[in-house]
Amino acid sequence: MATLMGKRILVIGGSSGIGLGVATAVLDKGAEVVIVGRSQEKLQAAERALAAVGKVSTFAADMTQEAEIARLFAGIGGLDHLVSTAGTPPPDYPIGDTDLNVVRGFIDNKLVGAVLVAKHAVRTLKKGGSMTFTSGINKDKPPVPGGSVVAAIAGSFGYFAHALSLELAPTRVNVVSPGWVDTPMFTELAGENKSSLFESMATRLPAGRIANPADVALAYVYAMESEFTTGQTLHIDGGQSLI
Ligand SMILES: NC(=O)c1ccc[n+]([C@@H]2O[C@H](COP(=O)([O-])OP(=O)(O)OC[C@H]3O[C@@H](n4cnc5c(N)ncnc54)[C@H](OP(=O)(O)O)[C@@H]3O)[C@@H](O)[C@H]2O)c1
Repeated sequence: MATLMGKRILVIGGSSGIGLGVATAVLDKGAEVVIVGRSQEKLQAAERALAAVGKVSTFAADMTQEAEIARLFAGIGGLDHLVSTAGTPPPDYPIGDTDLNVVRGFIDNKLVGAVLVAKHAVRTLKKGGSMTFTSGINKDKPPVPGGSVVAAIAGSFGYFAHALSLELAPTRVNVVSPGWVDTPMFTELAGENKSSLFESMATRLPAGRIANPADVALAYVYAMESEFTTGQTLHIDGGQSLI
């Protein structure tokens, strides 16, 4: 296992939710972290919280915009590991009501963004480095109706990592697929139903409770540290994909 002590790690999506959990976990292990998101306000709030844990800096960029991603990687210097948790709430239309503009926006944010990040990161990752992307439980347990687009996009990440891990070897490429996690995105999606949804899911889950970002962050840390893990999807869902 490679240690993260002294490593330089980029977390795209590190200003909130799971990404903020990953940033906290790697700082705890003695790494230096750069967090990326679109909103300066969210970045500054996260930086204030993370500065108490370790060495953190921020960069505002939208991963759907190639010029912004190119500028990020041109100025960032050498990187040991890259994590992306960036994402926006998925479209949830029954297929007959699909709004293609919303679908294209979601695909751009999640999948095209990951392709852009991989394209530009490849020149800055040091030997022994890794990329870890984020999928999710909606590929295994899609909401019905309305889950087809998110299932297709989340499902594509496993194959993206599979192919990229062969193309970029020895750089390792993996995916973390979380179940439900208590984050600002979940709060936005569930609104006032969040507590009742969490209560009923927790009673069904083998793990017996809903994850917090720190639970899932452990898998990203593993994907960075484990020199023998590549092309894999790590399902960190408390057993949600089994029920
Ligand atoms: N929470 C769950 O239950 C759950 C379950 C399964 C999978 N997931 C997946 O896990 C990922 C993280 O979710 P989360 O719950 O942690 O969400 P979150 O709290 O909303 O955090 C999302 C992060 O991504 C950033 N971001 C979004 N679009 C971006 C873009 N175009 N460019 C750069 N940064 C961008 C956001 O910052 P800005 O808004 O400032 O850009 C924020 O830092 C998502 O891909 C989600 O689909 C979540």
